[in-house]
Amino acid sequence: MKIAVIGTGYVGLVTGTCFAEVGIDVTCIDIDQKKIDNLHQGILPIYEPGLEEMVTRNVEKGRLHFSTDLTEAIKDCDVAFIAVGTPPGEDGSADLKYVLAVARGIGEHMSSYGVIVTKSTVPVGTAAKVRAEIEKALAKRGTDASAIEFDVASNPEFLKEGAAIDDFLKPDRIVVGIASDRAEEVMRRLYKPFLLNGHPIIFMDIPSAEMTKYAANAMLATKISFMNDVANLCEIMGADVNMVRRGIGSDARIGTKFIYPGIGYGGSCFPKDVKALIKTAQENGYDMQVLRAVEGVNENQKSVLFNKLSQHFGGELRGLKIAVWGLSFKPKTDDMREAPSLVIIEKLLAAGCIVMAYDPVAMPEARHSLGDTITYAKDEFEALIDADALLVVTEWPDFRAPNFEVVGRLMKQKNIFDGRNIYDASELKDIGFVYHCIGIKTDHKEPARA
Ligand code: UDX
Repeated sequence: MKIAVIGTGYVGLVTGTCFAEVGIDVTCIDIDQKKIDNLHQGILPIYEPGLEEMVTRNVEKGRLHFSTDLTEAIKDCDVAFIAVGTPPGEDGSADLKYVLAVARGIGEHMSSYGVIVTKSTVPVGTAAKVRAEIEKALAKRGTDASAIEFDVASNPEFLKEGAAIDDFLKPDRIVVGIASDRAEEVMRRLYKPFLLNGHPIIFMDIPSAEMTKYAANAMLATKISFMNDVANLCEIMGADVNMVRRGIGSDARIGTKFIYPGIGYGGSCFPKDVKALIKTAQENGYDMQVLRAVEGVNENQKSVLFNKLSQHFGGELRGLKIAVWGLSFKPKTDDMREAPSLVIIEKLLAAGCIVMAYDPVAMPEARHSLGDTITYAKDEFEALIDADALLVVTEWPDFRAPNFEVVGRLMKQKNIFDGRNIYDASELKDIGFVYHCIGIKTDHKEPARA
C-alpha cells in the first residue's frame, strides 16, 4: 500500500511514521520547506518520546519520505490523510482553510481511486465539504478527471502527547467514518497490522465518526472539571480528594483514569474541542450546558494555585521570588498550548513577583510566549535559590522525589504549592514545609456540624 500524509505537525508526523513502521510506503507532505529539510536530517518540529529514532529508522529503510511536492505523493496513493492544522477562529470555531486547501490540491493532482481521510479534528460536516472541494477541482480538470472515483472518510485520532507512539501502535480502538464498502475495505486493510491485540476497528457513518472525537474529548474534559469542582469542595469541607478519587475510581463505571484534580486541563485538544463543540451546538440552536460549565470550571481552576499563594502571603506578593517547576501543559511534551503555567505566571508577574522557572524540555518553547519576563533555570534546584515559594505546575517525573533537605536549604522560605498533588502532605509538614495542594485542606479545622 502507498499512502500520503499531508501536514507534518504532531498528528501527521506520528501517523505517517507509525504506518511506515509496519512496512507501509508513506510520504509526508508539508508546504514548509524548512520543516521538510529538517526532517530529512532527523530534526523534528516537536518533542515526542521515541519518535525521532522511529523517523530515522524508517527513512533509512526507505519507507518514509518527506516532501513538499503534493503532486507526486498524491498521484497513485491508496489513502491520503489530511492532517493539517485547524486553528480556532476568533469565535472558537475551527478554521478549515488549510483542510480545504489540501482537498483542492488533492483534486488537482489525483490520478486514480483513493480514499481521502480527515485526520485533523474537524467539525461535523467537514468530510462532506472536503468531498465537494475535491469534486470541484476534478471537474475543473475536465471530463477525464471528473470520472476519477474517490471516497472520503473520517478517522479521528486519539493520541495522547507523550504516549502517542504507543497509542498509535496499540490503539484501544480505531474509529472510521465511511460512506462506501470500498472505502471500508481499504481502511480495514490499512489498519490490519494495528489490530493484532484484539482491539476493534469501528466503522460508522461519517458524521458519527466526526462527532466521536469531540464527544470523547468533551467527556474526558468533563471528568477533569468535575473532579476539580469536587476537589475545591473537599477543601472547604475538610475532605481529602485523593481518598475520594480512590473511593469513586474503584467503581468500574467511573474508572480510575482522568479523575485527577489539578490546575485545569490544557493542551491542543481539550480546550479547543470543548469550545468548538459548544459553538457548533450554538450555531445549530442547541445549548451544551454541561460543557459550558466544564469550560468555566477549567478557567477558574487555572487560578487556584495562585490564589492559595496570594492567600498565604496575605495578598502581599510584590518582590517575592517564586520558583516554578514545570511549564508544559503536561509531562513528556514541550507543548505550551493552553498551558495553565501561562496563566499562573501572568498572575505572578502582574502581582510583582520574580519568577524563576525550570522545565526539562519546554523552556525553548515557553520562551516564545514568555520571552524574558521570567528567568529560566538550568535545573530544578537552581530555580529554588532564595525562593519564597515553590509552585509545582507540571508533574514531570524529575520533580516527584527531590531531596527535600536540599530543597529546604536552597529556599528562603519553605513553602510548597503543589498543583498536581505529587507529594505527601504529612511527610512535608514533618520536615518543616508549609504545603498546599489541590483538594486537601492541609491545615483544616473540622467544619461546624449543623
Ligand atoms: C488528549 C486526549 O487524551 C487524546 O485522546 C486526544 O487525541 C487529544 O487530547 P493530550 O492533549 O495529549 O490528549 O493530553 P492528556 O494526557 O489527555 O491530558 C490533557 C490535560 O488534562 C492535561 O492538561 C492534563 O494535565 C489534564 N488532566 C488529565 C488532568 O488534569 N487530570 C487528569 O486526571 C488527566
